Amino acid sequence: MTLTGPFTQLLTCEGLPARGALADDQLTVIPAGGVLHDHGRVVATGAFGELLARAAEVDRLTEPTVGLPGFVDCHTHLLWAGSRAADYAARNAGRSYQEIAAAGGGIRDTMRRTRAATDAALAAGLRARLDHHLRAGVTTVEVKTGYGLSVEQELRMLRLIRQTGRAHRATVVPTCLAAHVVPPEAAGPAAWLETILTDIVPVALREDLTRRFDIFVEEGAFSPGLARPFLERLRAAGLDVTVHGDQFTTGGSELAVAVGARSVDHLEVAGQAQIEALAASDTVAVALPGATLGLGCAFAPARRLLDAGATVAIASDWNPGSAPMGDLLTQAAILGVFERLTAAETLAGLTVRAAAALGLSDRGRLVAGARADFVGFPTTDYREVLYRQGQLKPNRVWKDGLTVT
Ligand code: NIG
Ligand code: FE
Repeated sequence: MTLTGPFTQLLTCEGLPARGALADDQLTVIPAGGVLHDHGRVVATGAFGELLARAAEVDRLTEPTVGLPGFVDCHTHLLWAGSRAADYAARNAGRSYQEIAAAGGGIRDTMRRTRAATDAALAAGLRARLDHHLRAGVTTVEVKTGYGLSVEQELRMLRLIRQTGRAHRATVVPTCLAAHVVPPEAAGPAAWLETILTDIVPVALREDLTRRFDIFVEEGAFSPGLARPFLERLRAAGLDVTVHGDQFTTGGSELAVAVGARSVDHLEVAGQAQIEALAASDTVAVALPGATLGLGCAFAPARRLLDAGATVAIASDWNPGSAPMGDLLTQAAILGVFERLTAAETLAGLTVRAAAALGLSDRGRLVAGARADFVGFPTTDYREVLYRQGQLKPNRVWKDGLTVT
């Protein structure tokens, strides 16, 4: 058994309510804390001095360090080729995201570049982004497909995500987003959703590529009416679903709640009815401040969602179009300023509540039996982590009990 510490402050996220508003005094902050772990799992947390007697080995910290559970990024699109810097410039010069998409740019432009890229180039891009996340303390990363948009290309993306993910120190959670937009070759949205169900889902299950499926419910993508039977059939097969919803128009979140989706992500235009529906459900509301910063639109109403009693997680949405920054902690800190989130709400949204959005109960909290994934920041006060708005970088990151950076 190994004891890591002493942390000047160790935050465990233990015992935080699964939903609703949080006050900072609900955080468990252990002074001079330690994490006792064995074979990648937490055995106990507590005062370093008290745990010493149980440790065969000590992984001793020599500088002031605040320890937190490893961050979970529950929504990314990290597998792509090319750049959309031209879209970004065009938007800032006055064109809208939807206009660019309707003119054949946007997601379909990334699709063309991704299809044309070699496996090696795509995997190298994904690895580099996972490395960046791991150095920033993000130890679990959801990665969606969605730029392949044919049966073969979507399956290629799923295989690349699995292969690259297995070889990486971060945990990678693959999600199939073949229902991102209607591919140019498809006969229409309904035909493409049917193709996903008949030609992609069975192969994904047989090859154990994923059991998680996503759909972009939006004008110009898939209507709630078409998305409903698609999601219901996935749910009837016992699969996990998540929805891109309420980004530009509403409809997605109510559908996500109705079909029992794990999460609905975006919510920039969610209003009172959507907030109440989410608060009354077990569907996690995922705010994507990186998309707000990439597109210059509203933040998801995280404050109102929390006050209504919803579970709010925060993810990066890292993708080449709407969220090119890729710095989850910076984005979460900025969301916290604009939405008036307590440190506890922001940190829970990056850890235990983000894990819930992925249906994972073995991480996001440092409790006995959980994965020993944690991150250290070179400071004496945990509040510095958000105060520095992403500029305070981790001094160490541990995955399954081992130092990775
Ligand atoms: O989450 N909204 C749809 N999908 C992505 C954007 C993908 C892209 O623009 O390439 C998102 O924002
Ligand atoms: Fe997204």
